[in-house]
Amino acid sequence: MSDAKKVACVKGPLPGPRSRELFERWRKAEAQCAGYQAQVVWDHARGVVVTDVDGNTFLDWTSGVLVTNVGHCHPALVQAIQQASEKLLNNYECLNEPRVIAAEKLTSVLPRPLDRCFFLSTGSETVEAAVRIMKRKTGNYEVISFYGGFHGRTYAAAAAGGMPGPKKGYGPTLPGAIRAPYPYCYRCPFKAKPETCGMLCLEFLDDCVRANSTGSLAGLIVEPYQGASGFIFPPEGWLSRLEQWVRSKGLVFTVDEVQASYGRTGKFWAVEWEGVQPDLLCIGKGIGSGLPVSAIAARSEVIGVLGPGEMSSTMGGNPVASACVTAVIDIMLRENLAENARRMGELLGKRLREIQERSPYVGDVRGKGLVFGVELVKDKATKEPAPDLTRKLIDVAAQNGLLIGSVGVFGNVIRVAPPLVINEAELDESLEIFERSLGQL
Ligand SMILES: Cc1ncc(COP(=O)(O)O)c(C=O)c1O
Repeated sequence: MSDAKKVACVKGPLPGPRSRELFERWRKAEAQCAGYQAQVVWDHARGVVVTDVDGNTFLDWTSGVLVTNVGHCHPALVQAIQQASEKLLNNYECLNEPRVIAAEKLTSVLPRPLDRCFFLSTGSETVEAAVRIMKRKTGNYEVISFYGGFHGRTYAAAAAGGMPGPKKGYGPTLPGAIRAPYPYCYRCPFKAKPETCGMLCLEFLDDCVRANSTGSLAGLIVEPYQGASGFIFPPEGWLSRLEQWVRSKGLVFTVDEVQASYGRTGKFWAVEWEGVQPDLLCIGKGIGSGLPVSAIAARSEVIGVLGPGEMSSTMGGNPVASACVTAVIDIMLRENLAENARRMGELLGKRLREIQERSPYVGDVRGKGLVFGVELVKDKATKEPAPDLTRKLIDVAAQNGLLIGSVGVFGNVIRVAPPLVINEAELDESLEIFERSLGQL
């Protein structure tokens, strides 16, 4: 590709002067609890390209944090938000027309047999709602979830998670949280091989229940791929076999697609890959593509356990968020973004695997659609995690014009999750920067 066509352009060492000044002011004003990020202060963004306050331009592999699926500041989305905000900003539970339209639109694209939704504001809120509904529906209190799971930072969501961060100093956590191993095949807790193990971790579920349950099982919550713990993808068939197990126990089945939905994996919903039919679906991030909005989707007979006045949220279903929900779905369908994610994802996966062959640090590459984890190790034979290199790579890549973030139980996985509007030229350029940056570690 000729330099003239390149979009990434960083003019000097990061952070630039204006960014540095803003970082200094920020550190004095806001508590410093956020995760490690590139030394870049965003000013504006369009599509896959971010411009910082110093005028540097970057290609974006973060989508915020898997949020801006329709691309940053999609003009049709911005227009829908502007028009709605001129009319009405909030009216709480009194009905507004955009809310009705958004609910109809969302239920029209939900994977069957889900036929109802309820609007909330954050992903964690949907998980809190799911836990409550699972308990109400069954009259039981135990919820099964997974090692490495991340469902948010509120109380039930943190308890259901299997990451140390959200729970640290927050105990005792919710009684009845039972955790089972997730198929993290690169670091299998049973030291088994996916080709021959016969999904041992699924068989182990019965042992977990025998050892931990008091006989009050309500439901199970699972991510179709684990996000925060390192973009860990289960082997094909695992989720549908899990669904069979859940059905055999008569539990309420919740799939947390807060980050996996809205085309991210190459289908509108991640459950579509195996035709899995949950009772409850947690939806967040991409649903608003930038505005704080989330939803819980459900089978009507399951969510029907909540009567009038039993679920609400101050901002949930506000007219601006609702207009945003409708506009995002329209854009997703009109521009066929799930399909673009699938096509671009095939290229991305192939190229990342080639980079894995050439780099001494890339231990594993896994993903689907436009969500890949690149796990960095100090040594491919020992698989010793390399969190320091991961952090360094974030800075080096930013300096070269590519924004990346990290996840992982060991903080050593680069998340590759560009907006779903990315084209081949942008993918090429970003991959070239990524490999060059790896070579500079
Ligand atoms: C799978 C999953 N569930 C829930 C959440 C929590 O969402 P929020 O941060 O909007 O509360 C996240 C956030 O990253 C997530 O990835």
